[in-house]
Amino acid sequence: MIQDQLAGTSVLITGGAGFIGGELAHTLANPADVTVLDDCSSGDPDRVPSEATFVRGDIRDRQTVSDAMDGVDVVFHEAALVSVAESVETPLESHSRNSTGTLTVLEAARDHDARVVCASSAAIYGHPERVPVSETDPKEPTSPYGLDKLALDHQTRLYHELYGLDTVALRYFNAYGPDQPANDYSGVISIFFERALNDEPLVIFGDGEQTRDFVFVDDIVQANLRAAVTDEVGEAYNVGTGTRVTITELAESIIEVTDSNSDIVYDDPREGDIRHSGADISKARDSLGFEPTVSLEEGLRAFPVSDNE
Ligand code: UD1
Repeated sequence: MIQDQLAGTSVLITGGAGFIGGELAHTLANPADVTVLDDCSSGDPDRVPSEATFVRGDIRDRQTVSDAMDGVDVVFHEAALVSVAESVETPLESHSRNSTGTLTVLEAARDHDARVVCASSAAIYGHPERVPVSETDPKEPTSPYGLDKLALDHQTRLYHELYGLDTVALRYFNAYGPDQPANDYSGVISIFFERALNDEPLVIFGDGEQTRDFVFVDDIVQANLRAAVTDEVGEAYNVGTGTRVTITELAESIIEVTDSNSDIVYDDPREGDIRHSGADISKARDSLGFEPTVSLEEGLRAFPVSDNE
């Protein structure tokens, strides 16, 4: 298994109480020595595995970050304000967490000579000129979130070019999985599941013809582990499946999987939303050996379909 290549190393996971960071922490808790840094503004401390050292703190606090990085070989930087919609409401907060917070992490990594794998995003491309989008395509973000992740993406590359740090940026497409929380600021799949299980209407923002490339959290973890050991550093990689669905198709699938009586209703489009998003993953395939393993159909079936499960 890829995680065995990290056996005996010391890793820091920022946002390790969050949806993706928590999954990474559980995957690495056995072979590696894991520290989690999370302020629990959106993360849940119950996600942190008992074997990990848990530091409750803010990635913008230089001393906290530096202390947490002592003796660390690899940093997985997952802490972020993850909602595009929330970033439109609070652009300063998005900038502070997603851009300044990342610089603080990279600066500490420079001091401690730690490799950093950063969570970038498909949101940096804005409305792509073509899909699937490849890494060198134009980047015109449509939201503060996308702009701040674009800054993170460049910061990650610059820390390699200027300071020789081993860095990798992973441009996640739409991550999902059963452990993703369902609230106004979380991903569409967890929101639709919760509503479908309660027979409440699934509300689609816009005409529902917008498309997304949904990638199961296990595959996001796999990409991170590969990035932690690759020689191809100073690079950014798309992490998706290469397959897209419309949001209407997604809503229909979730109603079917949950055997729900929910209706689909359409509301105004969401500010800052991207129209189409789909990944060309050939670079990650060729350089990292990344291969998605979970289809959307399989991934949706991994969700509990009643409160008793
Ligand atoms: C998501 C991620 C972001 C990531 C990006 C990569 C979340 C919260 N955001 O943004 O961190 O970097 O993918 O592409 O996971 N929608 C509805 N009804 C709802 C909720 C959403 O119709 O109740 C629609 C949205 O308008 C959008 C689509 O579903 O068109 C996906 O929305 P969302 O899950 O919030 O993800 P992104 O904005 O793509």
